[in-house]
Amino acid sequence: MFMDNTILFYFIVATTSLLTVAAGVLVVLLKRKVRKAFDDLARSFDSLIKKTAAAELERKLTDEKRTQAEHQLAHAQKMEAIGHLAGGIAHDFNNIITAIGGYASLLKKRMDAKEPSANYVEHIIDAGRHAKMMINQLSMFVKNDQPQVELLDVHSVISASISMLPADVGEGITLSADLKARPSFTSGDTTLLKNVFLNLVINACDACEKGTGSIAFGTEAVTLDSGNMLCRSFSIDPGPFIRITVSDNGRGMGGEVLDRIFEPFFTTKPKGKGMGLGLSNVWRYIETFKGAIEVRSKPGEGTSFFIYLPLIEIPTSSSPSAPAVTSPQPSRRTILIVDDEPSVREIYSEILIENGYVVHTAGDGREAIDILDKNAGAIDLVLLDMIMPRMNGTDTFHAIRTRFPQMRILLMSGSLDQEKVASLLQEPATAFFQKPCDDEQLIQHVRSIVVSPPAP
Ligand SMILES: Nc1ncnc2c1ncn2[C@@H]1O[C@H](COP(=O)(O)OP(=O)(O)OP(=O)(O)O)[C@@H](O)[C@H]1O
Ligand SMILES: [Mg+2]
Repeated sequence: MFMDNTILFYFIVATTSLLTVAAGVLVVLLKRKVRKAFDDLARSFDSLIKKTAAAELERKLTDEKRTQAEHQLAHAQKMEAIGHLAGGIAHDFNNIITAIGGYASLLKKRMDAKEPSANYVEHIIDAGRHAKMMINQLSMFVKNDQPQVELLDVHSVISASISMLPADVGEGITLSADLKARPSFTSGDTTLLKNVFLNLVINACDACEKGTGSIAFGTEAVTLDSGNMLCRSFSIDPGPFIRITVSDNGRGMGGEVLDRIFEPFFTTKPKGKGMGLGLSNVWRYIETFKGAIEVRSKPGEGTSFFIYLPLIEIPTSSSPSAPAVTSPQPSRRTILIVDDEPSVREIYSEILIENGYVVHTAGDGREAIDILDKNAGAIDLVLLDMIMPRMNGTDTFHAIRTRFPQMRILLMSGSLDQEKVASLLQEPATAFFQKPCDDEQLIQHVRSIVVSPPAP
């Protein structure tokens, strides 16, 4: 009995142990299975989350890209619309300013300088000049980041840049200009060139002592040959260049500063005074002109920047290639003015008649061709506006040249459409001037071309 109980006891113990082990194994197995199942589930979940997140991210990125593209398009469209608007305003404004400045100059000439109202006329002329500056600002506003390539007169850009200087800059500092280059045309982006001059003048002002400081602009025509170091270091083609000098009598720079001035973010100015981006931008802008820049400076001896821009030879009144003019022989010269703006026709006629020329006028290209046909051989020069209804300046130009191949043509244009003119200027006996211009400038331009040889 005792034996049976013992066996039974051991049997129970063994069975319990076995069962415990089996249960343990089972639990372990189950745990593993459950964990694996969990792991599998977690992995699937993880991959699902990743896939969903990736899809969501892609959707977001696509949305962002689309929104960005839409913004860019909207911005571009807005800028284009503003550009058209501003371009249109600038064109119409040019004609209005021509009228204001032109009539005021004529009035001033006919007035006794001692007359009290002569002073008012002077104010009108000043206001005209101011309006001209505003047009320049407007043109600047229209520009986007893409450099434009347009024909530009470096001398006009220098004047415009100086007039745009903030009122507090240059206080107590003398600004002078000795602009000798004839002609002074180059091609590139006017806004970028204005920025170049503004940066240089602001730096020069910062370096100068108030009261004794002076800044001088100079221009001259030079030729860079293939051996010139500038041609090699800037990879520019040798040839004629306009060299623009901007000098100051400020504190100057030592070698260590001089070596780094064109580096982006290099500045010696106190915090908040300069970012060190001015001259690195200047460098980039000059490169877009296929030009070069160099600088000379010594501590205490001032600084001179020299900018070289490719010179475009266009026959103008002051071009050295134009024959020297002593007398315009006005009585034998007949001019046809073609402009859709009556006030421009009237003012330019008055100025030319006053200077002894015989004048015909036409309001558009077709009328111009009619007048030329009727007066075959009697007209020496056509003054041709580029923007006109019915038949624009370019079409009129070609129509005139087809019928009268030798005709001298003086193109005139507002500030925003110069690039259209550039290709026409390759033709002989063709010159260009920018409207608005005053009576003296007009006569100068006319004299230069009216005595130049006709087209071969
Ligand atoms: N005419 C100058 N005379 C003396 N130092 C000059 C002259 N022009 C430039 N520098 C020196 O070159 C440095 C770099 O000029 P840069 O125009 O690139 O930057 P900045 O004028 O310091 O700042 P930012 O133009 O961004 O306002 C100036 O901090 C100054 O030390
Ligand atoms: Mg600067």
